[in-house]
Amino acid sequence: MTTPEVLFSLPLAEEILESHRYRAGGDDEGFDAYKAHVYRVINFARALSRDAPERDDKLAIAAAFHDLAAFDTLDYLVPSILAQDAWLHRAGREAWSDELAVVVAEHHRFSRYRAPRPHAELVEAVRRADLIDVSQGLIKFGLPSGYVREVRGAFDAGVFFTRVIPAGAVRAVRTLQPLGFLRPRDALERSGHLGADR
Ligand SMILES: [Fe+2]
Repeated sequence: MTTPEVLFSLPLAEEILESHRYRAGGDDEGFDAYKAHVYRVINFARALSRDAPERDDKLAIAAAFHDLAAFDTLDYLVPSILAQDAWLHRAGREAWSDELAVVVAEHHRFSRYRAPRPHAELVEAVRRADLIDVSQGLIKFGLPSGYVREVRGAFDAGVFFTRVIPAGAVRAVRTLQPLGFLRPRDALERSGHLGADR
C-alpha cells in the first residue's frame, strides 16, 4: 500500500485553528495537543481516501473543527458544527456546510458509514482516522504500522486525550453508552442539518 507524504502543516488548517485558539480559554498546551490530533486525523484521512478536487481543503476544515468545542463541554458536536458553519459562511464556502456537518456529526460512529448515504467517502475517512488516533494506533484500517507510527510520532496529542477530553467521555463514546447528545442524528438536528445524512 502506498501512503502519502506526511503533511506537517497546512495553511488552511493553521488559519482556522489559530483563529479559534481562544476557544481553549488560555489552555495553550491543551490547544497545541488538539492541533496535533487534528494533523494526525488529516494525515490518516488522506491515506484512507482517494484524492479528489478540494478533498484536502474539506479535510483541513472538518478536522480543524471536529472536536473544537471539547474545551467547553462534553456535548461538543453541536457547538463544533455551529463554529464550522459560521466559518464556512464567512469564507463563502457554505456549499460544503451539510457535507462537513455530517463529517463532524458522524465521527464517533462505531460502525461503518456507507454509501449510498451521502458524503460517505469523506465521512468514513475521518471516522476511521479519528478512531486510529483514539485507539492509539491499535486500530489501523489497513494502514501500514510504520505509517501510523510515523504520523503519531510527528505530533504530540497526548494532553488532549488525557486531560482535555475527560477519560469518561472517550470511554462512553467507544462503548456506545446511551449519551444521546453524542449521537449523529441528534447533533445534525440541533445544528440545523437534519436530513443531511440521507
Ligand atoms: Fe477527534
